[in-house]
Amino acid sequence: MIGYLIFLPLFILLACFAFGQPPAKPQLADTPPMGWNSWKKFGCKIDEILIRETADAFVSSGMRDAGYVYVNIDDCWMAKERDAQGDLQPDPVRFPNGIKALSDYVHAKGLKLGVYSSAGTKTCEGLPASLDHEDADARKFAEWGVDYLKYDNCNNLNRPAPPRYRAMAEALKKTGRPIVFSICEWGSNKPWEWASEVGGYLWRTTGDISDNWQSMTRLLDKQVGLEKYSKQNAWNDPDMLEVGNGSMTDAEYRAHFGLWALLNAPLIAGNDIRSMTPVIKDILMNRDVIAVDQDWGGKQGFKLRADGRSEVWIKPMSDGSRAVILLNRGGSDEPVSIAVTPQELGLPNVSKYRVKNLWTKETKTITKELRAVLTAHNSAMYIVSSSQK
Ligand code: GLA
Repeated sequence: MIGYLIFLPLFILLACFAFGQPPAKPQLADTPPMGWNSWKKFGCKIDEILIRETADAFVSSGMRDAGYVYVNIDDCWMAKERDAQGDLQPDPVRFPNGIKALSDYVHAKGLKLGVYSSAGTKTCEGLPASLDHEDADARKFAEWGVDYLKYDNCNNLNRPAPPRYRAMAEALKKTGRPIVFSICEWGSNKPWEWASEVGGYLWRTTGDISDNWQSMTRLLDKQVGLEKYSKQNAWNDPDMLEVGNGSMTDAEYRAHFGLWALLNAPLIAGNDIRSMTPVIKDILMNRDVIAVDQDWGGKQGFKLRADGRSEVWIKPMSDGSRAVILLNRGGSDEPVSIAVTPQELGLPNVSKYRVKNLWTKETKTITKELRAVLTAHNSAMYIVSSSQK
C-alpha cells in the first residue's frame, strides 16, 4: 500500500511527460511587469550611454524603489548584419561594449535588462530578427544575461502567429535562464486566446500608443471584454506609458496611468526618466496607484458603465475593497458630475464606506454614493471599502 502511494504520483508525473504535457510555465510575472522601454521617447536614437544613464536614473529618481525593474532596449540595438557565426550582434557604434556589459551594469543596480527582436525575418526597423533563428538567438540572450524579451511581429512572412511565438518561448525555456517573454503582435490574432499557453507572460492587445488623449482612449476602448483573459503570469498589455512625453496634460497623464493600473497593465514607462518634472514623478511613482496595478484580486479591472462622456471603471481588490475610476472622457468645458453606488461596486451592505482618493490622498466616509465633479479629461481614482479598519 505504502509503495503504491509513493509510486502513484511518480507514475502520474512520468505519464505527463510521456504524453507530451508541456512543463508548467515558470512563474516570472506574478504581478504585471514594471519598467521602462526606449521606443516611445528615443526610437532608434539609442546607445549604451542612454541605457546606463537610464539605469542610474531608475535608482536616483526613486523609480526602482517604487517597483520599476526592467530596463528594456527596444528596436535598433542590433547591427545591420549577423556575425560570421550567424549570431545577432549589437550595433558596434552604439553598443561598443556589448549587451553583456549592460546587463552586468543594470544587475549591479538591482535592475533587470530587456531586449527586443521580431518573430519575422527583420525587425520593424529592418534589422536582423529571429524567425527561424530562435534557438541561436535565445542562447545569445541568455548568455548576455538578458531577463526580458519583447518579441514583435514585423516581416513575419505571413506565417501563423502562435507557432512563431511558441518557437521563441520554447527556445527561451531551453536556455534555462528565466526570461520574461513579452508578445507584441498588436492584438492582430486575438493573442489573449493563445499567448499565455504558448509561453507569453504578457501580450499587446493593440497597435502602438501615441502621446495624445484620442490614442490613449482608443486603446482603452479596445480593452473592454479582455478582462477575463488576464491572470497571474498572463497580462493584457495595452502598450507602454506615454506619461511624461509632453503632449498630454498632467490630468490626462493621471487618467492614463490610473486606467492602466486598474487594468493590471504592465507599467512600462516610455519617457526620459533622467529628466522628469516633479509632477511626472508623482504620477509614475504614486504608490497607491501602483498598488492597484500590482494587486491581483482574481480579476482585472473593467468598465462598469458609460453614459456619454461619463465612465466608471472598477477593479476588485484582493482585500475585498474596490478600486474605482470616475472619468470625464469628453472635451466640453462644462464639468460633469459622475456617481457610483456601493451596490454597483458589489460591496456588502453596510451603513458607511471608507473612501481614499488615490491622487489627493484625502479620506472620507460615504453612505449612499461616491460622486465627483470633473472637468474635461479629468479623472478621480479611489479605493472604496466596506471595512472601517
Ligand atoms: C512596433 C511595436 C512598437 C516598437 C516598434 C519598433 O511598431 O509595436 O512597440 O517596438 O515596432 O520598431
